[in-house]
Amino acid sequence: MTTAGDSTESGLIKREANRRRTFAIISHPDAGKTTLTEKFLLYGGALGKEAGAVKARGGRRSATSDWMALEQQRGISITSTVLQFPYRDRVINLLDTPGHRDFSEDTYRVLAAADAAVMVLDAAKGIEPQTLKLFEVCREREIPFLTFINKWDRPGKAPLELLDEIERTLVVEPTPMTWPVGIPGDFRGVIHRSTGVYTRFERTARGSTIAPEEEVAADDAEARDGEWWTHASEEVELLDEIGRNVDLKTFLAGESTPVFFGSALTNFGVRFLLDGVVDLVPSPAPRVLADGNRRALDAPFSGLVFKVQAGMDKAHRDRIAFVRVCSGRFERGVTAIAERTERQFSTKYAQTMFGQDRDTADEAFPGDVLGLVNANDLRVGDAVYVDQAASFPELPAFAPEHFMRARVKDTSKFKQFRKGLIQLDEEGTVQVLRDQDLGDQAPVLAAVGPMQFEVATHRFTDEFGAEVELTATPFTIARRTDEASAPKLNAMQGVTVMARDDGTLLALFESRYWMDRVLKDYPELTLERMVAEGGLN
Ligand code: G4P
Repeated sequence: MTTAGDSTESGLIKREANRRRTFAIISHPDAGKTTLTEKFLLYGGALGKEAGAVKARGGRRSATSDWMALEQQRGISITSTVLQFPYRDRVINLLDTPGHRDFSEDTYRVLAAADAAVMVLDAAKGIEPQTLKLFEVCREREIPFLTFINKWDRPGKAPLELLDEIERTLVVEPTPMTWPVGIPGDFRGVIHRSTGVYTRFERTARGSTIAPEEEVAADDAEARDGEWWTHASEEVELLDEIGRNVDLKTFLAGESTPVFFGSALTNFGVRFLLDGVVDLVPSPAPRVLADGNRRALDAPFSGLVFKVQAGMDKAHRDRIAFVRVCSGRFERGVTAIAERTERQFSTKYAQTMFGQDRDTADEAFPGDVLGLVNANDLRVGDAVYVDQAASFPELPAFAPEHFMRARVKDTSKFKQFRKGLIQLDEEGTVQVLRDQDLGDQAPVLAAVGPMQFEVATHRFTDEFGAEVELTATPFTIARRTDEASAPKLNAMQGVTVMARDDGTLLALFESRYWMDRVLKDYPELTLERMVAEGGLN
């Protein structure tokens, strides 16, 4: 793109979009996502000179995304945050995906706003169950991903074994960008494969400052690191021979993954990974619209709502819609239109996020993420725009596999209960399904993972002041159906048709066996699969 000397508005937007790298980190809990995020910020200069602000450890102050009491009790990260920081001459937007296995639906939405992902593996554990599930989400969304093999400072698997595991399990070709010198547990440095340069790292105390690096010439390397160096260079030769080189085309198609070795804790290899993000992750491209056309980057402002979150912190009891900018220049204060309701809303309080600290966003470009405060009309999947209408393809709904009936404990709190139902449904915390006869008296809450119920129960009490009682239901699986099929399904035993607020009808079955029978015996009935049924949790 040659927009360097272009002083027009269009030139500015394209230039700024070109500088953006918008990606998410995916990993199995404990592989090191939080540590790596922290170190990215350190290398991006966003933390001053010391790491330690993302997650409070050992009494350090928290500027964390751990915002809910529940989250703190459990010590896990279940919400997503957006972090923006500069690196080299680029602007990095890091979308934090929820770490808990139950939140794959949420993760999917975050990945809908990302242009790429970084998959973090623990060197001792390789591909873990959650990594695999998250990877499937990436594949479904066709987004390219880099792989960071973390914790190389500790004993772990051999590098070739890890490559083999990636290839076999994910059916993706691993193409190492760096290669480790030293065994896991005695990590000396990495060889950068495209330049052949050997970079030796030095530890700093708990990795709180940038790791000193030294470029070592081949002759020197042998003298200093002896057999580790010889062994690593032989392996690099082998990789060259079998053509395991980073290839942009297959990377962008999700068929190969550039691999980096490192240790987030000691900062080894973190800079190479960030360089990889800048050099390989694609900048925002014109977004596909619902009608199949693409919206040019320099078209008027448009954005995709990928997450709606309430109660971010106790001091600001508000609701934030997270919007990924897809086209144009966003300017704070502009009156935007919410596509679904066609209502106008003010963007006076648009924000960008840094951990819990909020900054006012005066302008934003494609790839950036805005937090729109109190934009109560917005739901996940909605488009927002100015001047020229935009509508994005529907985000797929996940097949819930857990179903609980909800009742308010104190009937005088029914109004609060209803308010909670509407809001939690809109945010996608749980799906709310209603019986035609019972309506809001005893709706069924449906979830992809059971942990969503805990979050919902907690929020009913804490935020809406309506304690709820959840009781088990016999349902185990759901399929999407329609008005024509509903009466027949409802008349059968072991099946109940319930409705979502948006009118979608779901047939809930008590067993998969029974569902399969119905599918076979009544092929004329509509029973559509939803995304990732049985695949993601
Ligand atoms: P997560 O967000 O993916 O769940 O992982 P997180 O970064 O919280 O890391 C999980 C644990 O792994 C932490 O230890 C962290 O210090 C450790 N860790 C992360 N990266 C590395 C690495 O490169 N090398 C080694 N050796 N350890 C690493 P913890 O004991 O749970 O916490 P803490 O007591 O260290 O704070």
